[in-house]
Amino acid sequence: MGHADQSTNDQKAGNDHAVVPKSVPAVQPEGATCCSDNSADTKVKTLTCSLTGMAPLFTPIKIGSLQLTHRIIMAPLTRCRASPEGVPNTELAGTYYTQRTTKGGLIISEATNISRQATGHFCAPGIYTPAQVEAWKSITSAIQKKGGFIFLQLWHVGRGSHSKYQPDGRPPVGPSPIAIKEETSLPDGSLAPFEVPRELTLEEITAIVEDYRKATKNAFLAGFDGVEVHGANGYLIDQFLHDGSNQRKDKYGGSYENRARFLLEVVEAVQQTWIEAAGAGSPKAANVGLRLAPFGKYQDMSDSHEAELYGYVIPNLNRFNLAYLHVVEPRVIGSTAAGPEAVEVVHSLGKTYNGPWITAGGYRPDDANKTVMDAAHSDPPRAVAVAFGRLFIANPDLPLRIFLRAPLHHYNRATFYTHDAVGYTDQPFLAAGDIVEGVKELRVEQPDNQKLQNAIEGEIQLLKVQA
Ligand SMILES: Cc1cc2nc3c(=O)[nH]c(=O)nc-3n(C[C@H](O)[C@H](O)[C@H](O)COP(=O)(O)O)c2cc1C
Repeated sequence: MGHADQSTNDQKAGNDHAVVPKSVPAVQPEGATCCSDNSADTKVKTLTCSLTGMAPLFTPIKIGSLQLTHRIIMAPLTRCRASPEGVPNTELAGTYYTQRTTKGGLIISEATNISRQATGHFCAPGIYTPAQVEAWKSITSAIQKKGGFIFLQLWHVGRGSHSKYQPDGRPPVGPSPIAIKEETSLPDGSLAPFEVPRELTLEEITAIVEDYRKATKNAFLAGFDGVEVHGANGYLIDQFLHDGSNQRKDKYGGSYENRARFLLEVVEAVQQTWIEAAGAGSPKAANVGLRLAPFGKYQDMSDSHEAELYGYVIPNLNRFNLAYLHVVEPRVIGSTAAGPEAVEVVHSLGKTYNGPWITAGGYRPDDANKTVMDAAHSDPPRAVAVAFGRLFIANPDLPLRIFLRAPLHHYNRATFYTHDAVGYTDQPFLAAGDIVEGVKELRVEQPDNQKLQNAIEGEIQLLKVQA
């Protein structure tokens, strides 16, 4: 099975056994201006200097109602460890997620199916049955007990499914009868070509929006801190956005406005439902995010006017005041990404969006720090956090490793989508001795800076995770 893991280019993103380069310090010189602290509302109005001396990734950021202690976010990662019925394995997944929990850190869950129809991957979890909700409840509470936060990623794969996954055995659904020109894996593990999807009727589109509502309510009941709408990586929402997969002649096809209609209806329905569940006055009501992948090529995504499409979509999202917009950047040159001009377009589109921004895609600690720093100093200043995918799979204590500039363990692609603990909960933690040595090294960099010495101690307490 493949996923939008931008995995064909490991030269940039993978970089086996690399040690975090020392060129960007984990701590800044005393008094250095560092990062923005976004204001309580979702607009970044002020730029306040961080004087703690911490590197950009270790300055706080507000995401919805959550005050995060650092900006290293765990990206959504499909791992296929649930039951064939889509019930998360509370013990196995509970261990996996809590291993990666830090105090005040944010995890975005693996993509989670909003209905049976939404399903296209064997043993991916769902959020549409009482058993699934109960299982998730145990996982979210374990994360929160350790002081961490988790958003649920809401998923409908659309034409990325196969009749073998569909409740009625019919072909999967999509905006138009255009198949992905690739193969997919079936529940028995064999490969088969993607099928030509059935074009959704207007009534069916309304029913899917209703499924998003139900799933959102269930996510709230399961104790998630928030929800993220998956609008990236060639799944149903992305299929509606792009004219390579959407050739409809009705109000969901044609103009940018029409192709973005489904996305905006889903975001509105999810936000409305989440606010109703949390209570309009509750801070938690703010915790709805969205993930997009402009210029992503995964699962045959294409558009005749990609830049203009997102030029319409992104500013139109401002009215929702989302907790964040999460963008998979087209940074990696390979099968899933466009060239440098796409990177430029996405950067300028970032300036048209007013709220917190999570960026993802092939980041290493060094360029992640630089991205956060540059955004804080851009005009207008932007509050940016960075989601890490593959590095988080292989390094359960990733934030601590980045803080200490410790070596990063390399991931093993062969165990991304297998169904047991191997490659999942058995990934190595830094040894206690390495942590002590790492702290010592940081301390000697500025021995007279007492404030910094205290901050290092505080940070270690936040980031420490255990097997
Ligand atoms: C094993 C694997 C599973 C993934 N599953 C999801 C997913 O469920 N939802 C999603 O939006 N992206 C998914 N992605 C994409 C990642 O969230 C991320 O955008 C991508 O891996 C690039 O970031 P990285 O270079 O830090 O790994 C997945 C990637 C990998 C490697």
